[in-house]
Amino acid sequence: MTSVGIDAIEIHTGKLKLDLANTFAPAKGEEPEKYTKGLGLAASSFPDTYEDIVTMGANAAHRLMKRRGLEPADIGRIDVATESAFDNSKPVSTYIAGCLEQVFEGDFHHANKGERKFACISGTQSLDDAYNWIKADRNRGRSALVIATDTALYARGDAGEATQGAGAVAMLIGEDPDLVELSTEQGYGSADETDFLKPNQQFPSVDGKRSVQVYLARMREALEDFESVSGDTHPDDFVLVPFHTPFPGMVRKAALLGYRHMIRDTSIEEELAAEIGRQPRYEAFEDEAAFLDAVREYTDALKGTETYLEWYDRVIAPTLEIAREVGNWYTGSVHVARASGLKHALENDWEIEGKKLLVGSYGSGAQAEIHAETVQPGWEEEIAHLTVDEQLEARRDISFEEYERVHDAHNHDKRLDDVEEFTVPDGEFAFDGWGRMGER
Ligand code: HMG
Repeated sequence: MTSVGIDAIEIHTGKLKLDLANTFAPAKGEEPEKYTKGLGLAASSFPDTYEDIVTMGANAAHRLMKRRGLEPADIGRIDVATESAFDNSKPVSTYIAGCLEQVFEGDFHHANKGERKFACISGTQSLDDAYNWIKADRNRGRSALVIATDTALYARGDAGEATQGAGAVAMLIGEDPDLVELSTEQGYGSADETDFLKPNQQFPSVDGKRSVQVYLARMREALEDFESVSGDTHPDDFVLVPFHTPFPGMVRKAALLGYRHMIRDTSIEEELAAEIGRQPRYEAFEDEAAFLDAVREYTDALKGTETYLEWYDRVIAPTLEIAREVGNWYTGSVHVARASGLKHALENDWEIEGKKLLVGSYGSGAQAEIHAETVQPGWEEEIAHLTVDEQLEARRDISFEEYERVHDAHNHDKRLDDVEEFTVPDGEFAFDGWGRMGER
């Protein structure tokens, strides 16, 4: 059976940087550690006023196609995943295809285009659609372009404001991929939830605390559902575990629960029980509150053990290195986490060809999905091409007052006559007003 997966990847970050410790925290009268330690974030990537989901997505896709020497004729489908769309009819992929047609030979008239929506998980759902299209042998030898692009903005003063971000990830999905092969097995946890939603509004209405619990509950269901088809998972099965990362502190919680689940009935659990002086078995508790207390106590003790911390530092922490500098990119976030982990692996000479990743995607509303990926022989060359460090370094560090002006400029409810630009577009797609979207 043909192997199908991610053949190439490119990342485009919003060109402004909001420093959370030095700029945001003082302006909010908060301790910097709330952001750097509690949420695990150093900065947010922010879109300049000439950037939006179309320009960022087009810039990522342009770089990917150019680097791979691709023409529109090589691409049979373009799916855009976003929760920041501005058009309820025309999919963002048509706008992006229009941009790309300005710079490549030929057109995308033959390509099936669409837009996927299910909060942050739609990036992974688009991967799935592309995977299924190729597996069904409907692709006529062509690859699919999946673009996850978002301006993840919250209303000013909302608790989510510190977790904002903006950027795009373009992925080429094809046969015999260079980066990772996707597993046929996948698991879901899905339920109707209302902790994070945007009914005809730009900024989300969020019950932040509850959203954390919903994330954990759906992720646990997805892991159990995945195991029902893959067999039990074990922490040593995976070289990296990239999760959807609204902020690294969220993944810290998910990783701990995932680990506790994966070590059940293993020798690791037995050894740890001796080390922390607690048994992980709770069947004896008839009272729900006592049961939950016991679970919490065990988990609290577990997270301080050397065994767990060694696993976390090796398998989870590398996936958070980029997120820490950019914040939440919604649909792109889990794909940034994968890239971050693989980049760390390359920089540290890991030999991981043939090794497995466990990828946990999540979208509010709510749904989690878990699948495995196998690292392919071309992974090093592919990851070596990423320019994310250079892009992050080149961002303009904005003051709090500039941040407020940029936020206003992106607020659909405000009509500003005079919108300044903070950086200069450099051979990239930039937004000049409707009908004048072009390369500058
Ligand atoms: P908050 O309520 O302002 O923060 O916002 P907090 O008081 O809970 O503090 C955050 C952490 O910092 C806590 O750590 C504090 O203890 C710690 P925890 O107890 O959770 O481990 N802290 C400190 N640590 C060290 N030194 C200090 C200090 N002060 C505090 N001085 C909240 C947190 C998550 C509510 C907020 O960021 C929010 O509303 N975010 C948006 C919603 C969100 O991201 N939810 C995540 C799950 S849902 C999801 O991932 C989907 C999403 O991506 C959307 C989609 O799918 O489309 C959001």
